[in-house]
This record gives sequence, C-alpha cells and structure tokens, in this order.
Amino acid sequence: MAIGPIHIGGERLAVPVALAPMAGITDRPFRRLAASLGAPYVVSEMVASREMLHQRPLSAIRLTSAGNEALSAVQLAGCEAHWMAEAARRVEDGGARILDINMGCPAKKVTGSYSGSALMRDPDKALSLIEATVNAVSIPVTLKMRLGWDENSMNAPQIARLAEVAGVRMLVVHGRTRSQFYKGTADWRAVRPVVEAVDIPVLVNGDITDAAAARTALAQSGAAGVMIGRGTQGAPWLAGQIADDLQGNTPHPSPEGSTLRDLVIEHYEGLLSCYGTRIGLRGARKHFGWYLSSREGGAEIRERVVREDDPKTVIAALADYHWPALADDLADAA
Ligand SMILES: Cc1cc2nc3c(=O)[nH]c(=O)nc-3n(C[C@H](O)[C@H](O)[C@H](O)COP(=O)(O)O)c2cc1C
Repeated sequence: MAIGPIHIGGERLAVPVALAPMAGITDRPFRRLAASLGAPYVVSEMVASREMLHQRPLSAIRLTSAGNEALSAVQLAGCEAHWMAEAARRVEDGGARILDINMGCPAKKVTGSYSGSALMRDPDKALSLIEATVNAVSIPVTLKMRLGWDENSMNAPQIARLAEVAGVRMLVVHGRTRSQFYKGTADWRAVRPVVEAVDIPVLVNGDITDAAAARTALAQSGAAGVMIGRGTQGAPWLAGQIADDLQGNTPHPSPEGSTLRDLVIEHYEGLLSCYGTRIGLRGARKHFGWYLSSREGGAEIRERVVREDDPKTVIAALADYHWPALADDLADAA
C-alpha cells in the first residue's frame, strides 16, 4: 500500500510519516537527527501552556524547530482555554508552522490537572480548549488523542467531529485508551471509526515499529499516515526508513560501523550544546542504553560511558567501539 500527500491546513506533507512527540526523548537534537535521516514530519515534546508563558528556559529550548529538513509542529498541553490561547500565540510568534494539542497523555501529572487524555472525559471542556486555541492563531492546529478514557467510553470519533468543526486540520489517534496506559497492544482497527467520522487526515499511532506494522496499521485503520514513537528510541532513522518503504522505495539501511559511530557522537554533541554539559550528559544516558545495549559488546561500553563525566572521554570511548549491526538488522538483510 502506497501513501499519498496530505494537507494540514495550508501545509503540504508529501509523505505522512511522523515522529511522535515523546517528552524527554524527542527534543530538538533528536528531532533534528530524525529529520536529517528522512523523517518527513516531527512534533516537539509536549510543552505545558502555562509553563511556557512563564518562560522556563528548558521549555524554550524544547520549542525551537528541528531544522529545515522536515515539517515540524510544536505540541501544547493545558487545561485552561485562556492559557492555551496565550501559549498558542506565543508559539506562532516564535515561528512554528503547525501547533498540536495534546489530548492523549495518560500521565497522572498531566491528567491530574485535567489536561492530556483527561480532556476526553469532558467533550465540552475539550471543545472550548480546542476552539480557544484554533481561534488564537492562523497556523494550522492539529490534535493528538487516544481512543477514549476507557473501553466503556471510546469517544474518539465524537471528539474528532467536534475538533473538525472547530477548525482542527489533522488528527493523530493512538490506538489505546487512557486506562490502558501502554499495556496490551494498540488497536489499529479501532481507529477506523475516527477516520470515517471526519474529512480531515488522520494518522494512526501505537506499536508501529517497522514497515510491515505500518502497512498493517494503515490497512486496518484506513488512516492517511502513521506516527512512530518508541520504535525510534535508539533508531532515529526508523521514521525515514518507514517513509521510504511506504513510498515504494528501498529503505536506507540502518547505519552501522563508522556511520553509526558518527551519528551517535553527533547526537551526543547536540545534547551537550542544547542543554549544557551537566544536563546534557545525564540526558544522553538513556540514549546510550538504546543505542548500545543490544549490540555485541555494547553493554560494556554503555557501562563505561554512563559513569563518565568528561565528554572527551565519552567521545573517545564511543569512537573506539566498532558499532556492529543489530542481529535483527542482519537477519532482515539476509
Ligand atoms: C517516554 C514517552 C513520552 C511521551 N511524551 C508524549 C508527549 O509529550 N506528547 C504526546 O502527545 N505523547 C507522548 N507520548 C506518547 C507517544 O507520542 C505515542 O503516542 C505512544 O508512545 C504510542 O506510540 P508508539 O507505540 O509508537 O510509541 C510519549 C510516550 C513515551 C513513551
């Protein structure tokens, strides 16, 4: 199944394959890397609308765009229409091309304050928040949500229709309910009623970790495109590979050897320059785990680099390692 271009308001997305927003992971250095490796569309981590207006420095860092390679969106979370509208204006003034509303986050920290997926429990409140955001800006607004709060309230089609009428230009649906958190498997078929309820494009999300899964998710949901999250951890090239495949092209091979070494060092240096050495070092550790742990001899290198505080020593250790392909990639290539 090939996919075609979609329009998000006035923006054209030639290949609807997106890197999912993941707080603490898909920050600017990661988005930049994913975009340079072919991800056609990237979304910032969620930024709390109130927090952003009080200009916490980290929020500002998270917002800056991924670079010119991909279309990018900034995601806002919030529970008060007033703050969402204010923050939306700020995001637009900052040069964002697309603004995404988070209505999918299951975290108690977020739902406790009645934002993220908690908004799906109260469609009237969700609608007032959506309307305030859409009316505050002239850039396209998109919405990311789950199937509903729990299996007894799968109201994503209802919210989708309300959102479309309010002027939302694209939807992303994670095929789980909020009560599931990340348990079980994403139900791509359950996204189809959302696709059928609206005329705007819908991306299907959840558990898409390779091109075969992307094709199945598209076929089962009828969605116009896919969004990929956890599969990209330690694999910022994955969205680009899936985009290649869905266009009928041979995907770029997963990097290994000196190409992968350079890429990991580039990611590491990007984190240091974005956050400064102390926070950058800490933030890099989880990425090292994902890049290294499943490679032959990688676990030992990981142990060394996560204990090290001197960036030069870390880079020397990364440069010394031979960066073999993953066993899975070798099997795929055979
Ligand atoms: C660590 C982590 C952080 C996330 N942060 C966000 C976020 O900031 N905004 C959001 O809409 N979704 C967030 N998500 C949800 C993902 O965007 C995505 O919907 C979910 O992981 C399912 O897709 P996947 O199976 O491809 O990972 C996060 C998920 C993870 C694992």
